[in-house]
Amino acid sequence: MSDARVAKARELFREHFGRDCDGVSFAPGRVNLIGEHVDYNDGLVLPMPVAAGTAVAWAVHDDADTQVTAADFGEEDRFDPAKPAKPSNESWRSYVRGIAAQWGGDLPPMQLLITGDLPRGSGLSSSASLCIALGRAFVDATGDPVDATTLARRAQQTEHDFAGVACGIMDQMAAAAGEPGHAMLLDCRDLGYRQVAIPKDWAVLVVDSGVTRGLVDGEYNARRRQCEAAAAALGITSLRDASMDDLTAQDLPDPEARRARHVVGEIARVGEATAAIEQGDLQAFGRILSEGHASLRDQFEVSHPTVDALVERLQKMIGTQGGARMTGAGFGGSVVVVTSPDRAREIESEFSEASSRVA
Ligand code: GLA
Repeated sequence: MSDARVAKARELFREHFGRDCDGVSFAPGRVNLIGEHVDYNDGLVLPMPVAAGTAVAWAVHDDADTQVTAADFGEEDRFDPAKPAKPSNESWRSYVRGIAAQWGGDLPPMQLLITGDLPRGSGLSSSASLCIALGRAFVDATGDPVDATTLARRAQQTEHDFAGVACGIMDQMAAAAGEPGHAMLLDCRDLGYRQVAIPKDWAVLVVDSGVTRGLVDGEYNARRRQCEAAAAALGITSLRDASMDDLTAQDLPDPEARRARHVVGEIARVGEATAAIEQGDLQAFGRILSEGHASLRDQFEVSHPTVDALVERLQKMIGTQGGARMTGAGFGGSVVVVTSPDRAREIESEFSEASSRVA
């Protein structure tokens, strides 16, 4: 990869550590087109990588410790690569130590410099991007190949063990195996995937709501537990195996009933959305996005009033030429827009600071 971010990471590494790095790795963030809060229910998802991401300049050194600098925050860390310990406070350090711990003590001591252009808390998965970029640096440093799916699993385990978020695997898979200009249809049950090309006459944009996610981890984990409780009440291992008829037949309590309705409907929407992309049916795709947003707002209750207002405003601008919905875990963050290039330009001029083009 040779772009300005790699050159910048190299340069910052030289300034900081006073020597040249051995390499620079990179991983993108992701935007999810549809399939929200279904990855941990064994569902189908349709994310795509964004241009922004995380670069890690790295070198192996003779010191005993691994030294890390987060250049964008002016913060540092140092730990024993033979047994990376959980830091006392959750921060970017949790991810660095957590992903290093996945190598089971087999990493050499390294110097690492991290820099990126993904806004944190904007719902574009800066933590998956960080973990995958670090994982790629470790793969290059050790020379032991690790496939994209294993890398994604290690990054997911990092979130579980070191960040306390019981996340699914969508973000890590999108960062590890997504292709620019393509949505990745991922089956979270067996991790099979295929790349679905976005039609040339469609535009994909991300619009930042400006609301940074707060308190999301507790709410996220609670949603996951409610989905698991719904599946247990239905006598199945995951909501992937439930149908709307099952939900009607079984009188689930609230909020489990609404959570389950969202999941079952959302998994069906991913299939329909994939067909709409393949048929180039922008209007149908837009309708599916609107339904998905309403379901996240009303059934899954993970939206935010500011995000709802932004989605409504964007939907008015878009009309029948596509659609918009919240993307990511929710409680703030970003809105994804899929529309025609003309409408996209209008949105970009209206939201010049807050919008970025994905395709
Ligand atoms: C976060 C998690 C993902 C996924 C989404 C919601 O991004 O990391 O695993 O559950 O929320 O779809």
